[in-house]
Amino acid sequence: MTEPRKLYVRSFGCQMNVYDAQRMTDTLAREGYVETDTAEDADLVILNTCHIREKAAEKVYSELGRLRKSQEEAGRRQMVAVAGCVAQAEGAEILKRARTVDLVVGPQSYHKLPELIAQAEARGSNRRAGIVETEFPVEDKFDFLPPPSRAAIAKRGPTAFVTVQEGCDKFCTFCVVPYTRGAEVSRPVAKILDEVIRLADGGVREVTLIGQNVNGYHGVDAGGRDVGLAELVRRVAQVPGIARVRYTTSHPRDMDDDLIAAHRDLPALMPYLHLPVQSGSNRVLAAMNRRHDRELFFAIVEKVRAARPDIAFSSDFIVGFPGETDEDFADTLDLVEKVGFAGAFSFKYSSRPGTPAASMDGQLPEDVKSARIHALQALLDRQKAAFDAACRGRRFEILLEKPGRFPGQLIGRSPYLQSVVVEAPVEAIGTLALVDVREVSTKSLSGDIVGGEFFADNVGMNRSARQSEKVEA
Ligand code: SAH
Ligand code: SF4
Ligand code: F3S
Repeated sequence: MTEPRKLYVRSFGCQMNVYDAQRMTDTLAREGYVETDTAEDADLVILNTCHIREKAAEKVYSELGRLRKSQEEAGRRQMVAVAGCVAQAEGAEILKRARTVDLVVGPQSYHKLPELIAQAEARGSNRRAGIVETEFPVEDKFDFLPPPSRAAIAKRGPTAFVTVQEGCDKFCTFCVVPYTRGAEVSRPVAKILDEVIRLADGGVREVTLIGQNVNGYHGVDAGGRDVGLAELVRRVAQVPGIARVRYTTSHPRDMDDDLIAAHRDLPALMPYLHLPVQSGSNRVLAAMNRRHDRELFFAIVEKVRAARPDIAFSSDFIVGFPGETDEDFADTLDLVEKVGFAGAFSFKYSSRPGTPAASMDGQLPEDVKSARIHALQALLDRQKAAFDAACRGRRFEILLEKPGRFPGQLIGRSPYLQSVVVEAPVEAIGTLALVDVREVSTKSLSGDIVGGEFFADNVGMNRSARQSEKVEA
């Protein structure tokens, strides 16, 4: 038998890249590739890249430099592929800048990987003839990407991402996503449900439905009816074995009443909503082409809170957008004060080639951006710390996901995506535990299990065992 070929995939960027990496791995598993944890060890290295900010996009080149060095030191030739959003945005430029690269493949062509790799192999050591595939093909890649094996699902643990929508038609003036991922496409309901059923069969308990503009989801069901995200979430929550559903990332404009009602009606829909707002200034929001103002954002927050009082929000912010004044930035701080976030990501505006904002007047100097991001992050950190601190003494359902740092410990996630450390046996992984939160630190919570799917019987057994001990004594 020939040795299996080894594959190493490194992902940067958003959850969709994590999902795509799994689908590429599943596709190549059928070609005889097995995963390895180190690039040095691999016959094929795939860098799954992100183009969202300049720093993210530049990472691929430092990574390629490292690879070239390690190849030279080991005197070994590896096949190197660049996938993801930098591949889509820069295409053949990558081959010019980094000679180590054999193949550049955009996100809509992952189903073609086996044939592209075969072509690259056929070219052998003629590296000048690297292959570039960045078309948006007419066929739907999802129809050709094979599903994961049961073993692969089990290895990935009890939570999974499922892409339900890809691409974006919103064209915020700062953002590359509409160019790198293309127009919005929603997958049909039946395909998504098949995937979720398969995941649940393999032991998955929590699915996060992902899309660049996930609440813009509009798929068709088997009867040809148009189905929005709310209805999709309801159907996913009915799949036997699925205990929790999340979705990300949403746009405020697409938070319709049906989706808000789903937050009221579906206990499985977790009470933690990531809703990027970007800025608290109406002037800046208009220049960003966000299609919402701060008033709409406040109104949505209020409606969702009325529907699901225990909901918490997280968001994304950009500081230093071209033309942002001190007053505009003060409006952002004011919005944060008024809403109160349990978590957030904030970024300094990064000028991206080809986007309208890149050529706007009023580009701001780095020191202004730095001062603003520090002020914003300090406020957001305080809010997160206050939210976490208020969790002490609460009883949460935790999904136990993986072993902790010390023997006998497991790590799970709260409804609010906080890591929670508990003492429990590995057999309990994949079950829901009821936990009384005792300690809160910056990174995680910890607490005591008081019941749950795995423990109900055991806790009961212990109790009756103790009682019978007493009786015997
Ligand atoms: N589709 C999502 C998120 C897209 S990218 C949405 O609509 O919000 C994730 C985050 O990166 C964005 O929310 C934004 O905060 C940030 N981002 C995008 N482009 C950026 C840029 N040019 N500079 C800085 N941050 C950016
Ligand atoms: Fe980018 Fe705006 Fe689309 Fe989000 S909604 S992906 S920020 S263009
Ligand atoms: Fe980055 Fe592309 Fe995701 S640019 S954030 S990997 S959609």
